[in-house]
Amino acid sequence: MYYPDELVEEVRMKNDIVDVISGYVRLQKKGANHFGLCPFHNEKSPSFSVSGGKQMYYCFGCGAGGNVFTFVMNYENYTFAEAVKMLADRAGVDLPEMEYSEEVRKKEGRRTRLLEVNKAAATYFYYQLRSPKGEAGYRYLAGRALDKETMHKFGLGFACMSGNSLVQYLRSKGYADDLIQEAGLAGFDERYGLHDKFWNRVMFPIQDINHRVIGFGGRVMGDAKPKYLNSPETMIFDKSRNLYGLNFARTSRQNNVILCEGYMDVIAMHQAGFTQAVASLGTAFTSGQASLLKRYVKEALLAYDSDGAGVKAALRAIGILKETGLNGRVIRMEPYKDPDEFIKNLGAEAFRERMEQAENSFFFELRMMERDYNLEDPEGKTSFHREIAKKLCGFSEEVERDNYMQAVAERYRIGYENLKKLVVSYAARTGLAAPVTRPKSGLSRKQNTPEENRKKPQRLLLTWITEEPGVYPKVAKYVTPEDFTEELYRKVAERLFEGLSRGEYNPAALISMFTDEEEQREAAALFNTKLARLETKQEREKALHDIVYAVKKNSYEYYSGRLGAEVNAINQVIAGKKALEELSKTHISLDE
Ligand code: UTP
Ligand code: MN
Repeated sequence: MYYPDELVEEVRMKNDIVDVISGYVRLQKKGANHFGLCPFHNEKSPSFSVSGGKQMYYCFGCGAGGNVFTFVMNYENYTFAEAVKMLADRAGVDLPEMEYSEEVRKKEGRRTRLLEVNKAAATYFYYQLRSPKGEAGYRYLAGRALDKETMHKFGLGFACMSGNSLVQYLRSKGYADDLIQEAGLAGFDERYGLHDKFWNRVMFPIQDINHRVIGFGGRVMGDAKPKYLNSPETMIFDKSRNLYGLNFARTSRQNNVILCEGYMDVIAMHQAGFTQAVASLGTAFTSGQASLLKRYVKEALLAYDSDGAGVKAALRAIGILKETGLNGRVIRMEPYKDPDEFIKNLGAEAFRERMEQAENSFFFELRMMERDYNLEDPEGKTSFHREIAKKLCGFSEEVERDNYMQAVAERYRIGYENLKKLVVSYAARTGLAAPVTRPKSGLSRKQNTPEENRKKPQRLLLTWITEEPGVYPKVAKYVTPEDFTEELYRKVAERLFEGLSRGEYNPAALISMFTDEEEQREAAALFNTKLARLETKQEREKALHDIVYAVKKNSYEYYSGRLGAEVNAINQVIAGKKALEELSKTHISLDE
């Protein structure tokens, strides 16, 4: 934590969560809570709840949750410190100079400097493009049908012919050589010293979702190779977690995103009014990017090139979207190569039609697969049908699988019953798509990993206590924070137990202990998970007993394995043994 705890808590208390979130999301009061459409995923009916009482928010749809800091971090893509700063300003709280640890100060300082030098470079390129020296670049972009506003919106620029002008400019602004080099704006060699990386290219600044420049792509104006040069990854430029155009797309208020391959495609799409277009950054689409998109939309329309490489990339992207839980559809680009050319030739209306006709990704996959088989030949046709059956086994949900089987049977004129037989026989052979049984409660899910088996009771116990702080004294008889062997849970337990022992319960304050968004989310989930409904007192007592027992047993085993390695282990083991013996004889009574 960089600011003193008390100050962070003061900032939090002075920013009512309902007030703050109302600035971003339209909320409606329902009972004790406020509800609205979740800003972190796309939905039609509100499952995003904000509790004024708890000063926390939680989305029952996507699991986003936390306190007011988490919300701002998540929505604005701020670090914890940035979120504290913003909310302090909002509430008029004075913050002292940051109390950074040496290491954090170095790191944060370096990040800030990298952002600054990138911004300075972007400014430089921007003015070059609009100066006489940049005429060739301007002509090139105008020749590609970009208008002045579009070039401005994307901050397009130009890197001149003349040798080392960016390095000289940045030095004149006081940036050190090693920073310029670390940002990837210049290279170094023995003979030439520090020299500009981008040279005689039109420049595309790459921005994060807060419009901060984090890198560049530079394109040659002719056919030279490589066509694009890109900044290397740096501390601020993670190519797998940013998307070109997302800074605009995320506020486009569309319920889908258009995923393109190239910078030029994104720009052309935006100019034509499709402000939800984004592209990956000179690398293949990643699952990190898919999760980023999932915060905003449910569906991605693929607008990839129509050539072989484009199809291959699309098939890969479909797999990633599916894993992430995003719906994917493919836009047909023929007879043009890519969205840029399509728009230039047929215009926005025609593109909109193609969007509406975009093909379900499963059928796209089948259509591409079909090309590998000779359907005139019975042998080829049978193999193709087998492959279809195999793919159908990929749908683990029965209803979905059946819907697809019907659609496939119709489209490919295969008897439904025959297809079903093929699917069943394939499934039987490989064990895939076994009949899916869905348990009613979250308590008894399918086979879990050993790690999850260790974590789960710990999580359930914390959730139980936060839902029903009254059980704390009963639990405290057996369990201490050290029994939580997961670090995050242990931290939560320490704070929670410490507060409860004084009769205090303040979940929102507890979340601010964590400065990392993922950790905040995980901690917040503890306070919002619904426990399985247990009807009778007996059932509840038995469940609590079993959970406490499981937590204690795990702790006992954990510390037994660390005897000798940890000073404290011996005490934990002795206490654990005693508690386990006692627990196996008694049951926990929920009576007052
Ligand atoms: P494209 O070749 O489709 O580029 O590559 P484009 O954006 O459509 O550009 P134009 O229309 O030919 O001018 C798609 C993306 O792949 C990356 C870039 O991110 C590009 O936008 N790429 C391509 C590179 O990083 N380096 C290259 O040499 C080529
Ligand atoms: Mn192109």
